[in-house]
Amino acid sequence: MGELKKVGIIGAGHVGSHCANTMLIQGICDEIIFVDINKQKAVSQALDCMDMLSFIPHNAEITAGELKDAAKSDIIVISVGGIQDEDRMAELYSSRDIIKEIIPEIMKHGFNGIFVVITNPVDIVTYWVQKYSGLPYNRVIGTGTGLDSARFKRILSTELKIDTKSIQAWAVGEHGNSQVPIFSSASVNGKLLTDLIKENPEKFSHVDFEKIENLVISAGWDIYKGKNSTEFGIGCTCADLIKAIFHDEKRVLPCSVFLKGEYGNSGIYTGSPAVVGKNGVKYIIEISLNDKEKQKFNLSCNIIKENIKKLGL
Ligand code: 2OP
Repeated sequence: MGELKKVGIIGAGHVGSHCANTMLIQGICDEIIFVDINKQKAVSQALDCMDMLSFIPHNAEITAGELKDAAKSDIIVISVGGIQDEDRMAELYSSRDIIKEIIPEIMKHGFNGIFVVITNPVDIVTYWVQKYSGLPYNRVIGTGTGLDSARFKRILSTELKIDTKSIQAWAVGEHGNSQVPIFSSASVNGKLLTDLIKENPEKFSHVDFEKIENLVISAGWDIYKGKNSTEFGIGCTCADLIKAIFHDEKRVLPCSVFLKGEYGNSGIYTGSPAVVGKNGVKYIIEISLNDKEKQKFNLSCNIIKENIKKLGL
C-alpha cells in the first residue's frame, strides 16, 4: 500500500459517487480517481467532490481518468452498471460483458491491490472479478450482504425501538431475493433476540420475524420505487469495507467472500461475516444457523452456483 491511500472508482453513477462522498466525509482516503464510460460524468463527479474540500477532515486529490490511471490505486471499487429490474439477476449478462472488458485492462496496467465489488449480481460479479484478475480470493471482496445486514438492523431497530448500533444481526447468502436474515443468532448487546422477546412479551410480543424478513428482502426495491436508485446505504457499506482495509481494523463485516468449505459449501462467493484487514479478508466467521436457516442458505448458494454455470466465464 502506498503512503497515500488511493481509491479508483470504476462507474461514477449514484453508487460510485456516494461511496466517494462517504469516504471523503469520513476522511478514509487521500486520493480518488473516477473512471466512467461517460468521461464528462467522471469529470463532473470529481469537480463536485472537490467542492467538498473546504469542509472535510483532510485534503484529498480527486480526479477523473482512465482505467490505466486507476490501476495505480490501492483499492478499486467496481460500481459499473445500474438497476434494470426488481431482481439483481437481471443485470447478469450486461455486467458480465463489462467485467470481461475492464478487469483484464486494469490488470494489464499492473493493478496489485484489492477489488471491492458492488456491481450486481454482486456475488457472481465478484466471482468473475477474481477469475479475470487472478488476484487471491482474499483481495477480491464483494459488498454482498453488508447492505442487507444494515437494513436488517435498521428494521429491527424500528420494531424493537432500540438503537441500530446496539443490535448485532447478519443477513447471509446472496445479495438478492434469496438472502437469509439470521434471527437465531441476532442479539442486542450480547442478549439473544429470541430470548429478549421471550422474556419480555409485554414489550416485544408484536415482533413478527416473517414480516421483518420480507421487509429486509424487499428493502432495496422499496427505496428504488421512489427514486430509481439506492445509493446512501451502499455508499456507507462500501466505505466501511475500505476503512477496515486501510486501517487494518480486523473488523467483522458482512461481505461477499469466497467459500472453501465453510457452511459445507465451496467454490462461490456469497455473503457471510468475515474479519477484514489490510490484506482484505483474513478469514470467514461462520455464524451459527438453525436447520431452517441452513436450508435457506444452501438454496441461496445453489442459486449463485446455477447462475455462474449458466454463463460460464
Ligand atoms: C440494493 O440492494 C439494488 O443492490 C441494490 O440497494
